[in-house]
This record gives sequence, structure tokens and C-alpha cells, in this order.
Amino acid sequence: MQSPIDSGVVLITGASSGIGRALALEVAPRARALVLVARRKDRLEALRDELAAARPALVVRVFGCDVTDRAAVDAMLLAATAEVGEIDVLVNNAGFGDLSLFDLSAWSRTEQMIALNVTSLAYLTHRLVGPMVSRGRGAIANVSSGFGLTFAPGMASYIGTKHFVTSFTEALRLDLAGTGVRVTQVCPGPVRTEFNEMAGNFTGLEPPALLSISPERCARALVRAVDRGRALVVPGVVAWLVVMLGVVCPRWLLRLAYWPIARALRKKQLAVRGAPAP
Ligand SMILES: NC(=O)c1ccc[n+]([C@@H]2O[C@H](COP(=O)([O-])OP(=O)(O)OC[C@H]3O[C@@H](n4cnc5c(N)ncnc54)[C@H](OP(=O)(O)O)[C@@H]3O)[C@@H](O)[C@H]2O)c1
Repeated sequence: MQSPIDSGVVLITGASSGIGRALALEVAPRARALVLVARRKDRLEALRDELAAARPALVVRVFGCDVTDRAAVDAMLLAATAEVGEIDVLVNNAGFGDLSLFDLSAWSRTEQMIALNVTSLAYLTHRLVGPMVSRGRGAIANVSSGFGLTFAPGMASYIGTKHFVTSFTEALRLDLAGTGVRVTQVCPGPVRTEFNEMAGNFTGLEPPALLSISPERCARALVRAVDRGRALVVPGVVAWLVVMLGVVCPRWLLRLAYWPIARALRKKQLAVRGAPAP
């Protein structure tokens, strides 16, 4: 069966950088049209020009849109479908993390993260999946995280949002069984993007190079998963091993192993803030 990416209309959220940008470049040679969404419209326009130069037949529409703003999303979908037709593939990629112990985090940031990583993903899916089911064709491709399958200290809210994405995607895939609509997700370990910087990494440490992959590799893995109708992929051999270790390891052992790391994170975060350690 032909992949819905081929000659399809692909909407990608968070296409202004990282994995979303790489996804746009990956599907551009095959799609009929791309709808690229993010807040930084200047970056989307530069990407559109790059894509148009490489493949003039490709239709690219860019929308400077905060996907947590319901009215802006509704207006964007109305304009996009009027200009390029129904969306065949929705890639829910926009998201951010917050590296902080929960009690030391800012509520405004947590709220914004849940609005983006959870609510906007569910809303966009709800808006677009019905017409896909009616046409008997389409795909929902979600960018979750290895943290959607396991847990660790220092990112409780982010990990919670990604557990929503992973479980929601698995359950949605079952709901849509036999409808012709594919549902897939990528659960990457560290990817070399702006993510770490945006997450407010206070540790001064970077993820090990061996564990990290490029956004291009992550994008290729998700596109291949859509093509093959796979449920879930963890790209990169080392990342796969680490994520699977977190999945199969008894939870009591994980809690024990993470205990000293959590204590060290608290000490570090308080020191960075200039507050006395407990
Ligand atoms: N990098 C990693 O290590 C890693 C690992 C696992 C999972 N992930 C997941 O991968 C996805 C993409 O992240 P990335 O690594 O590519 O990070 P990134 O380079 O920071 O890209 C994040 C994208 O999300 C967009 N975005 C943020 N807030 C938005 C909003 N309110 N409305 C619309 N767009 C918004 C950003 O665009 P604007 O700022 O222009 O709006 C940007 O294009 C996220 O869901 C993240 O959780 C990343």
C-alpha cells in the first residue's frame, strides 16, 4: 500500500528547527505539499526558499503560529486546507522540555509545556483524524521521547507529557485499526538540536556523544516507520539499548540507581541559583 507521504499533504509542527526541520527536508522529495508550522516564521520562510530551490514543483505553505493558541490553530488549518487541500499526514513534533526538579520549577513553564506537548498534540490530532478516517487514508506521526517509555529525575513534567504522547499514540493506533489511517511514533534518546538549550540545562553536562543522534537520522527513522506502518521506533542502536534497559529494568532498581543522581541534581540546581543546599 502506498505511503500517505507520497504525493500527499504533510503538516509538520515545530518545523523551524531540529527534528521538525529535518523532517521537512526528508519528506520534501516525495510529498505534493508541505504545511510548515512554528512561531519563528522567518526561519520557516528560509526553509521554504531552500525547499523551493531544490524542488520547484513542491508547494510549501508556512504559518507563524503558536500551536497552543486554539484560535490561531483553527485559522491556520482553515487557510492551509483552503490553499493545499486536506492534510494527509500530521506530524506532531513541536515540543520542549524543562530541566528542573519539580518543586524548583516555574509553574508557568510547566503549564506551557503541558499545553504544547499534550493539549495541542491531542487537539491537532482530533481536528485532522476524522477527515482521514472518512477518506480511508492518512497518517498521524508523533514525536515522543525515550522518556515516554521510562523515567528519570530532573524532568518530571516533561516525562509526564511524553508518557501521555506514547500511551495516547499506542491507544489511538488501536482505535484506528482497519480505518486505513496509520499511527506511529518515534521515541528518541538525545538528538542534537536546540532542545537542551531550550530546556534550560543547568548541569553544564551534555548527553554522551555515543548516545546522541542527528536530527536527520531521527527524521529518517520516523518517515521509514510511517512508510512501513510501524507502531514505535527508537532510532540509534545505543539509544535503543539504553531506552530498552529502562523499560525492562525492575522499577525498584531504577529508583535505587536514580536516587544519588536526584540528590546531586538538587545540590547542583540550588548551587546554580545561589540557594543553600539542604
Ligand atoms: N532533542 C532531543 O534530545 C529530543 C529527544 C527526545 C524527544 N525530542 C522531542 O522532539 C521534538 C522536537 O524537538 P527538537 O529536539 O527538534 O527541539 P528544537 O530544536 O528546540 O525544536 C522545537 C520546535 O518546536 C517549536 N515550538 C516550540 N513551541 C512552539 C509553539 N508554542 N508553537 C509552535 N511551535 C513551537 C519550535 O519552533 P518555534 O520556537 O519557532 O515556535 C521548534 O521548531 C519535541 O517534541 C521534543 O520533545 C527531542
